[in-house]
Amino acid sequence: MTPYEIISKKRDGHELSAEEIKYMIMGYTNGEIPDYQVSALLMAIYLKGMNAAETMAVTNTMLYSGEVVDLSAIPGVKVDKHSTGGVGDKVSIILAPIVAAAGVPVPMISGRGLGHTGGTLDKLESIPGFRVDYSIKEYEQKISEIGACLIGQTPDICPADKKLYALRDVTATIQSIPLITGSIMSKKMAEGIDALVLDVKTGSGAFMQKYEDSVALAKQLIAVGEHFGKPTLAYITDMNEPLGRTVGNWLEMVECFEALQGDGPDDLLEVTHQLSGAMIYLGKKAGTIKEGVQISKEMIRSGKAWNKFLEIVASQEGDVAMVQHPQHYPQAKYQAEVKSEQDGYIAGVNALEVGLTSVSLGAGRQKSTDIIDPKAGIILHRKKGDAVSKGEPLMTVFTDKEQELQGAVSRLNAAVTYSAEKPLLESLIREFIDKTKL
Ligand code: URA
Repeated sequence: MTPYEIISKKRDGHELSAEEIKYMIMGYTNGEIPDYQVSALLMAIYLKGMNAAETMAVTNTMLYSGEVVDLSAIPGVKVDKHSTGGVGDKVSIILAPIVAAAGVPVPMISGRGLGHTGGTLDKLESIPGFRVDYSIKEYEQKISEIGACLIGQTPDICPADKKLYALRDVTATIQSIPLITGSIMSKKMAEGIDALVLDVKTGSGAFMQKYEDSVALAKQLIAVGEHFGKPTLAYITDMNEPLGRTVGNWLEMVECFEALQGDGPDDLLEVTHQLSGAMIYLGKKAGTIKEGVQISKEMIRSGKAWNKFLEIVASQEGDVAMVQHPQHYPQAKYQAEVKSEQDGYIAGVNALEVGLTSVSLGAGRQKSTDIIDPKAGIILHRKKGDAVSKGEPLMTVFTDKEQELQGAVSRLNAAVTYSAEKPLLESLIREFIDKTKL
C-alpha cells in the first residue's frame, strides 16, 4: 500500500478499506505522509464522496488517534449537544445550564469561531477570567460537582482531526459530508457522552446551505452516533437569518444572560428549548421530548438555570459580578446605525452577510492568528416579519476599527430585504430526524 495507490483509488471513485484510511490519516498525523499527498486525498474524497463504512473508518481512526474520556464514574446519562455552526448561535451557552439544572450532566467540548460562524469558546472567553483550557481530570471533576463543564479541545483529544481540519481549511475541502461527519463525531465520541442531540443548520448562514445536504449530513451523523451505541437525535434548523438579536461575542453573552433570566427573543428560545428538551429526554429526566421542553422552560422560569449558569461561571473562574452587572463591561469605541431604506416589512436579514460583516468588525478571525475583539458585533433591532418605516434603526454596529464602520453599514444595508406584505413566519425547526428515519 502506498499513498499514491490510495489517492488514485479514491480519485477513480473506488471504496477505500479501513486499513487504507487509517494508514493515510495516521501517517499524516505522525508526520510520515506529506501534506501534499493528504491534500490530494482530501480533494478526491470531497469530489467522489465516501460510503457509510468509509465514513465510519474515518471517524474511528480520528477518535482513537488520541485520548477517549471515560465519564462512567459520574452517575446519570451524560448528554451533549452539537451545532454545525451558525450566525448568532448562542444556544449551547443557554442550554448547558438549563439541562444541568434539570439534573442531566453536560460534558461539552466546544469549538472556536470558524469563517463567518461564531464559536462557543470565544463567546465564553469574553467573560473576564473565564477559562476553557482545563485538563480532562479537572473537566471530569467539574462535571461531577456542578453538572456541566464547557472546555475546548485538548491536545490529547482527536489530534488527527486537529491536523486534518487545518489542512481542509486551506484546501477548500471543509464542505464534505463524510469529512465533517468524521470530524464532528470523533470529537463527540471522545468527550465521554452517553447520548447526543445535533442541531444541523441549513440556509445562507450555515456550512450546508442546501436543505438536502443538511438532511444528508444529519443522517450520517446519526448513523455514526448510533453505531457507537450512543442514542443520537437531530434537528434541522433554519439559519437564513442570525439567531436572536445579537452577533458578536460579548453582545451574545449579554443576550444569553437575559434569556437565562426569562427575557430572551422567541426565535432563540424556540431552538434552545427544543434542543434542551430533547437532551432532558435522552438524559432520562423526561418521558417524552415534549415533557423535556416543559421542564426546560420551567428551569428558566424558576431561576434554576440562571443560578446554574452563575455556578458554572464561578467554577470556570469567570467574573460573576460582571455577568450580573454587564453594564460595567467596556464599550466599543465606535458605533453606527443601519437604517431602514423604506416603509414596509423586513422579508429577511441575510445571515452569511451579517456573519462576514461581524468578522470584519473584529468579532471573528480572518486568519487563525487574529485576536478577537469581544466588544465588536451587531445588534439587530428588527428581523423578518417586523414592520418598519424609512429611516428607522434596524441594526447597531459596534467596533474599535473606525475604518470598517462605514463599509459595515453599507454591507448590512444590502443584507436586508423588504416586502410590502407581512411575510409568513415559519418555525425555525424544520425537521426532526432520528434513527428510524435513516
Ligand atoms: N465542525 C467540525 O468540528 N468539523 C467540521 O468538519 C465542520 C464543522
